Amino acid sequence: MKNLTIVKHPIIQRDVTFLRDSRTPNDQFRHILARIAGMMAFQVTKDFELREFDVQTPLEKTKGYALKDSIVVVPVLRAGLGMVEGFLNVLPDARVGHVGLYRNEETLQPVDYYSKFPSQLSKALVILIDPMLATGGSATAAITFLKKKGAKNIRIVCLVAAPAGVKMIAKHHPDVQIFCASLDRELNNKGYILPGLGDAGDRIFGTE
Ligand code: PRP
Ligand code: URA
Repeated sequence: MKNLTIVKHPIIQRDVTFLRDSRTPNDQFRHILARIAGMMAFQVTKDFELREFDVQTPLEKTKGYALKDSIVVVPVLRAGLGMVEGFLNVLPDARVGHVGLYRNEETLQPVDYYSKFPSQLSKALVILIDPMLATGGSATAAITFLKKKGAKNIRIVCLVAAPAGVKMIAKHHPDVQIFCASLDRELNNKGYILPGLGDAGDRIFGTE
């Protein structure tokens, strides 16, 4: 799976375990998800380019650095919202777009209900965030929207991915690299990831 980077940091693996645990209450789930999102933000930006400029310290002038390109973070509603704060803690200058999609529980096809993106997507490094990549239908649809709006450089950050989702992205959007914390075994007959962590949106927002 050339389009997949699994981030195997010990702190991230520990935190994913808290999220998997069905006893973790909603407030801790949200808190830990935000923390992992921040750590994933470090990994997905590892090769972003810098521009140099002079900065005056209290003692003398020295070289300083800023990120060269503008960054747009795009959560897939609802569950992606749980990762926004963690990303913005690390990337405070990032602009935020939104894609609203939910899976039809019978067909597992994504249904779109909202989208709003910042301008000049074509020049930005776009990071699509959603804790779950299951069949890959939602992420595929979200990337298609982003490309229609001009986005050219897109990465996905999820926490738990299923092989089916990784394959679907490779097929429809081979230019998009996926970063996840875990590649899980498979999907069950309702499209849930096994072992997974359940319905991420429900666990974040307490709607189960
Ligand atoms: C979840 C998850 C992804 C999608 C993944 O959202 O947050 O967006 O399912 O599944 P897929 O890869 O098979 O498309 P869901 O549809 O449950 O909507 P919600 O966040 O509003 O609960
Ligand atoms: N969406 C979720 O929230 N969880 C899954 O396991 C699959 C899709």
